[in-house]
Amino acid sequence: MSGFVVIEGIDGCGKSTVAETVAGRLGPRAVLTREPTDSWIGRAVRKGGSEEMSPYLDALLFMADRANHTPEIADHLANGKVVVCDRYYHSTVAYQTAYLMRKSRGDNFDWLLDANIRISINPDVTFLLTIDPEVALGRIGDRGELSRFERADFLKEVQDNYLRLAEQDPTIVQIDSTRPPGEIVEEILLALDERKF
Ligand code: TMP
Repeated sequence: MSGFVVIEGIDGCGKSTVAETVAGRLGPRAVLTREPTDSWIGRAVRKGGSEEMSPYLDALLFMADRANHTPEIADHLANGKVVVCDRYYHSTVAYQTAYLMRKSRGDNFDWLLDANIRISINPDVTFLLTIDPEVALGRIGDRGELSRFERADFLKEVQDNYLRLAEQDPTIVQIDSTRPPGEIVEEILLALDERKF
């Protein structure tokens, strides 16, 4: 059976390793994908991260990449695949709400959610990996230089926005990601099995 599975969480929560392992364990029926994508627009999004620009442009770039990515996901689903996506629209709602707030643009949560739902496919299930931002940052610190979003106070606001999304969406399953990645993978595979994926 096809299915659309999203893995979300703040930087350093371990979601990329988990997404890769889950997709690998599902085998050839799974397709692993991610945002920002590797397309030209995804590369523009990554480049934009290092430029001084409007925080609205920042949000719109992530959304442009998604608008381009969504039909690809739809094709895989139509071919009966289980699509495992490392970040999707929840990332924009969580990160860009926090970023726009930081840039004194007020609370943009509602329109970001509304606009993103319009350019997205509803995931069957989203696993939200939660973690203390300080612990997450400690993990990132081992990887080298930090990006503009990688500060504990900012990541706390991002995670609060994810939790705000989870409060209103029963398809978001919270997973404590302080545990070893192997345990998280097993929990996700079990949840997918229960949903007959
Ligand atoms: P990554 O570390 O998962 O590759 O994501 C790159 C960064 O982009 C990460 O700090 C989260 C951020 N991001 C957003 O701010 N909004 C989005 O919509 C997406 C997909 C990522």
